[in-house]
Amino acid sequence: MTNKLDIFKCDVCGNIIEVVIPGYGELVCCNKPMRHLVAQSVDEGLEKHVPVLEKNEDGQKVIRVGSQPHPMEENHYIQFIEIVSNDRKHVKRKYLLPHDEPQMKLKCTCKNNGGFEVIEYCNIHGLWGNKFEGEN
Ligand SMILES: [Fe+2]
Repeated sequence: MTNKLDIFKCDVCGNIIEVVIPGYGELVCCNKPMRHLVAQSVDEGLEKHVPVLEKNEDGQKVIRVGSQPHPMEENHYIQFIEIVSNDRKHVKRKYLLPHDEPQMKLKCTCKNNGGFEVIEYCNIHGLWGNKFEGEN
């Protein structure tokens, strides 16, 4: 049994998938069950992964990874940032490449309806997340 927006990874080939509509079957890739990824939320060590919400120079709200910018090198970088409204009706994902800035503008309907969660995926350190209050 999966849940909407669960994320799974194949540890053999590296496929990462997100559940759009849940079902009862076990997710299998490369003949092995896929691993359900659970977002970590507490930073340890030097590199910071937990998403933070800040305002940029123009006063726009921006999600950044993390409290100090995460490396965006060829072999270690943030692969995507995703915003999910608390009601799970709105999802917005931004894919990143090495040398991009590890950030995403917060321009989506989810900011007005009671809060949202942000997750991000580091190709080395995995899935991280943080929750934010809505404005209402
Ligand atoms: Fe990392």
